[in-house]
Amino acid sequence: MELKTLFDEKTIRGRIRSLAKEIESYYKRRTNNLHAVCILKGSIHFFSELVMAIDMDVTYSFIHVSSYAGTESTGRIRVKSWIDESIEGKHVLVVEDVIDTGHTLKYILNYLRRYRPADLKIVTLVEKKKHDHGIPVDFVGFEIGDVFLVGYGLDYNEKYRNLPYLGYLE
Ligand code: IMP
Ligand code: MG
Repeated sequence: MELKTLFDEKTIRGRIRSLAKEIESYYKRRTNNLHAVCILKGSIHFFSELVMAIDMDVTYSFIHVSSYAGTESTGRIRVKSWIDESIEGKHVLVVEDVIDTGHTLKYILNYLRRYRPADLKIVTLVEKKKHDHGIPVDFVGFEIGDVFLVGYGLDYNEKYRNLPYLGYLE
């Protein structure tokens, strides 16, 4: 199998900077305090780049979940660790790496809503257009078709996460 580049580092960073501006303009008249939730492990690099590019007060939470084995969603979400502080009344932005079937995000959103945040928005680096997941995603970095991605935090059985670009195996 050969590793091909889909989006290089410069393209990803440029897109993240413009996402940060879109996010700022949405929140501008609403609040200056944003609570960003990083979905581990895949979102680590996207989250880090994004929050540094957002010119607002940003606090962080981390959720660690997994559902994949190889390149297939198992459909069973395993929660390995959950947020450890209240998000009640906060403006919450969930930061996801990829939305594919949408199972992972639906599960997380259902639970987060129960804590009564003031507002709950979603940003994803990549949205796959293979499934009609029905989740209204507020901010999207890149839309792609049915490709299994690695790099920039994304793995294939825990490998390739530290590649500084988004690639795929062919
Ligand atoms: P979903 O539950 O099918 O929407 O998948 C979401 C999660 O699966 C993401 O948070 C990723 O961590 C992982 N995932 C989905 N597609 C890919 C991919 O192409 N490469 C690596 N991980 C992926
Ligand atoms: Mg993920």
